[in-house]
Amino acid sequence: MKVLIATEKPFAPVAVEGIKKEIENAGFQLAILEKYTEKQQLLEAVADVNAIIIRSDKIDAQVLDAAKQLKIVVRAGAGYDNVDLEAATQHGVVVMNTPGQNSNAVAELVFGLLVFAVRNFYNGKAGTELMGKKLGILAFGNVGRNVARVAKGFGMEVAAYDAYCPAEVIEAAGVHAAKNQEELFETCDIVSLHIPATPETKQSINKELVGKMKKGGIVVNTARKEVINETELIELMKERDDIKYVTDIKPDADEQFAQFEGRYFATPKKMGAQTAEANINAGIAAAKQIVAFFKEGCTKFQVNK
Ligand code: 3PG
Repeated sequence: MKVLIATEKPFAPVAVEGIKKEIENAGFQLAILEKYTEKQQLLEAVADVNAIIIRSDKIDAQVLDAAKQLKIVVRAGAGYDNVDLEAATQHGVVVMNTPGQNSNAVAELVFGLLVFAVRNFYNGKAGTELMGKKLGILAFGNVGRNVARVAKGFGMEVAAYDAYCPAEVIEAAGVHAAKNQEELFETCDIVSLHIPATPETKQSINKELVGKMKKGGIVVNTARKEVINETELIELMKERDDIKYVTDIKPDADEQFAQFEGRYFATPKKMGAQTAEANINAGIAAAKQIVAFFKEGCTKFQVNK
């Protein structure tokens, strides 16, 4: 069996070592394609492999066509909107993710971005504190739950809304369950986005919703750029000079957002899951899932069933 790590944004070397160990201990062979710049490099690398470990790397019908021996793709991470699931199913390829493995890293970055934002991007002027502020968490999955845990450490009041998670589960975590996402935006000082990019959520964070925020509202996005209606958010930020937007995913309209000096910040490259720990957890989980798939036929974590 030949397993390929295809990561445009590489794992930490220690994680690659761990993956190599898992794969080689199973008697499989590991190939690595890191920091590739052209799709052609990926198309060539997948030609003879049986399994691929990816991050936000795009796996579409063309890649699947080029990978004649492919049986499984594991997205080392949570979101799998970068994989064409329908095409994978048509090609008889199993797709999995590794839920929860990088969620603490993403949650910690939320607070890195928030402290930066409330202290006016460290410009020397007096800012505010997070303690006592109300944080709204949109989607209470693995990342949202970790965000709630850390927020309590900061002494924040925490609310959450998740269309797919019952209010009782949210309340059991000691978090106020908002009735809907409108309530989160209306009542919270800060809203942290943790929704996946799906047909329902794409462009859903729009002017109407963010416009409900109180004076000085902050939106922090460590989820996906696609969930933001960028044109409308820009429009709103022009009308309201109190709203801040901090994000780990550079918007398509980055240059236009840059006009909001002191109210907008985007990391140069998505950094949420970019820690040695998250890379080790997600990378090794992916390797173990591939070994269990080939040796035991295990399809736990398959997302294209
Ligand atoms: C995820 O969906 O797991 C996160 O967005 C991390 O993505 P990355 O592996 O590309 O950093």
